Order: sequence, then structure tokens, then C-alpha cells
Amino acid sequence: MKTLISEFAIKEKVEELAQQLSIDYKQKNPVLIGVLKGSFIFLSDLARAMDFPLQLDFMSVSSYGDDTKSSGIVRIIKDLDDTITDRHVVIVEDILDTGLTLGYLVEMLGARKPASIRICTLLSKNHNRKTVHISADYVGFEIEDKFVVGYGLDYRGYFRNLPNIAELEEEDLALGFLAD
Ligand code: PRP
Repeated sequence: MKTLISEFAIKEKVEELAQQLSIDYKQKNPVLIGVLKGSFIFLSDLARAMDFPLQLDFMSVSSYGDDTKSSGIVRIIKDLDDTITDRHVVIVEDILDTGLTLGYLVEMLGARKPASIRICTLLSKNHNRKTVHISADYVGFEIEDKFVVGYGLDYRGYFRNLPNIAELEEEDLALGFLAD
């Protein structure tokens, strides 16, 4: 496995994003929506870097299943607990890849008439976009089309707990605990 983004670089970027969000949302009592599971570490660090009133809610969706390629099928596993009507919403994601997940979410959540809706993603793979109208308002890092794990991102449920972001390499797939 090769480190692409170090723990320190992530920390600096999270603080920078939190500052931008603070400027834009300080007076707006926003609700940050974490898209589980991948965003849970990013969201928890991001939220703790902001010191103004905000709320958190979570959705669980799945687009990848257990594979390394997006299936294009978005399944809602858990919906939000609370209404977002008239609220300022920031969807927080770990990665924007084909855009299929966020394209679906923005349309679905937009129909609930929030006051505004924006996207904050730690990583963005711009070359893979299939949903052309989707772009993130806040982006941590633009990366190449490599399969990355760590800081919330997984392969078959593993590696979410890595403190850095790493590229999964061919030899890693032979690791014993990843065997079927
Ligand atoms: C990942 C990621 C995004 C989505 C992005 O989720 O967290 O939600 O894929 O890909 P897209 O832009 O091609 O739609 P995944 O389905 O792997 O679930 P997870 O967050 O539980 O790991």
C-alpha cells in the first residue's frame, strides 16, 4: 500500500475546509449530512473543527457493494432522522467519483425543499464523472483514478481505520484477511 495523502496533510486540509464552511455558515445554523459509512471519520474531524451552532444527521447509502468499481445503483439503507425543509444543508462525503451517489442524493434531498444544499467532499476523482451536473462546492483533494482506502474509505469493509489515505495495490489484494 502506498500513502497518497498523509495524516498531517489531511489534518491541514480539514482545518482549511472547516474555516471556509465557518465563513459561509456561521449565521445559518446548518445541518451537516454525513453519507455513511465512508464519511464518518472526515465528518467527525470536520465538525469538531467548527465552533458555531450546527446539527448533524446521517444517511446510509451504498453504490459500490464490495467491488472496486461503482455499480451505478444507489441503495438507501438509512434515511435522515429529521426534516431538512428550509434548512441549510451540507452533504459531507469522503469521495466524489462517478457522481452517481451524489447526483441521486442531491435530487432526492432537493425535493424536500431545503433552504440551500451544497456538497463538501474530501476527495474528488474528476475524470470519472458520469453525472455531469454534479460538482462539489468544497473539495479537499482532487485525485487520479486510483482505488484509495483509509480515513473512512474501505475495500471490502477493511482499511477505514487507516489514519492516512493510501492507494490499494495489486499485492494488497493477496492479504489473508481479504480472502473470500
Ligand atoms: C462511496 C463513497 C461515496 C460513493 C462515491 O461509497 O462514500 O458515497 O462511493 O462514488 P460515486 O461518485 O461513484 O457514486 P460506498 O458505496 O463505497 O459506501 P461506503 O461509504 O459505505 O464505503
